[in-house]
Amino acid sequence: NIPRYVKIVEVGPRDGLQNEKDIVPTSIKIKLIKMLVDSGLQVVEATSFVSPKWVPQLADAKDVIEGIKGVNGVRFPVLTPNLKGLEAAIAAGVKEVAVFAAASESFSKSNINCSIDESLARYRDVASSARKLSIPVRGYISCVVGCPMEGNIHPSKVAYVAEELIKMGCEEISLGDTIGVGTPGTVIPMIEAVKKVVPIEKLAVHFHDTYGQALSNILVSLQMGISVVDSSVSGLGGCPYAKGATGNVATEDVVYMLNGVGVETNVDLRKLILAGDFIRKHLGRPSESKAATALSKT
Ligand code: HMG
Ligand code: MG
Repeated sequence: NIPRYVKIVEVGPRDGLQNEKDIVPTSIKIKLIKMLVDSGLQVVEATSFVSPKWVPQLADAKDVIEGIKGVNGVRFPVLTPNLKGLEAAIAAGVKEVAVFAAASESFSKSNINCSIDESLARYRDVASSARKLSIPVRGYISCVVGCPMEGNIHPSKVAYVAEELIKMGCEEISLGDTIGVGTPGTVIPMIEAVKKVVPIEKLAVHFHDTYGQALSNILVSLQMGISVVDSSVSGLGGCPYAKGATGNVATEDVVYMLNGVGVETNVDLRKLILAGDFIRKHLGRPSESKAATALSKT
């Protein structure tokens, strides 16, 4: 019993690239986003309006947004860590933003340089300013089952942050297994706890494939009623503040699985693979997507 349609939130241009050491030219980022859109993806997280000292790769956020202005009918949310980021995003023409909290204190500190409660206070300001302009806000939670510094994370910690994000007006909560350690054994109880405080329609899942568990975790999430899945073309990614975290689950693998179980996504897998080919050729690395690798040989 799984949803008939799954909304994929493509995070490659943001989560996928943020950790790349060599700066990817803005024109390549823009071309990638356009190819992703061309594959049928309806939500493509484009970039982050964060401190360029913290994430140098995304220092060209304004120019990326400028470069995709003509692309209509697709949503291009961006990450905004504070009011400064929100203001810059709005000035650039962004129509949708996301804030990013964590379920682990240590991770919060290393990622955004403040405690969980301090971050929630900041995000209340971001959310209320955004709401005045009818800008939807997504709320991310990192480390929902495990933290690189603290180890296992209790589901109640995730539920606490999720409830606060919903109370401040976030329209969707993305549950991130930032270091990819979760299995259905830890993911199911975490979602059980969160869905007591957030309606299931407002939940998204964001898995990293570090331990090869992402697709199983996605499948059990769908079976629990979740119908929004974050993924990254070619499995790009990793978090600068989570050592050892590999990429997000590859969008190609997610689409291949969803096609197989008869779930609609609106995505053309062949075109998606072309987008993956394009960016990995630029980066000079093979794809992390098993489906893309296999299909490229046929
Ligand atoms: P801070 O150093 O504590 O903040 O950073 P600050 O207010 O003292 O500012 C420091 C400098 O940054 C100042 O510049 C500010 O103006 C500037 P200076 O005066 O030194 O020249 N600054 C900004 N510049 C541009 N845009 C802004 C901005 N804010 C301040 N918005 C801060 C705090 C939150 C800003 C910083 O820690 C930061 O930008 N962190 C972002 C880290 C990040 O992007 N991490 C990756 C995303 S999260 C993730 O990947 C997980 C997720 O995918 C889910 C999952 O995988 O599980 C979402
Ligand atoms: Mg991520």
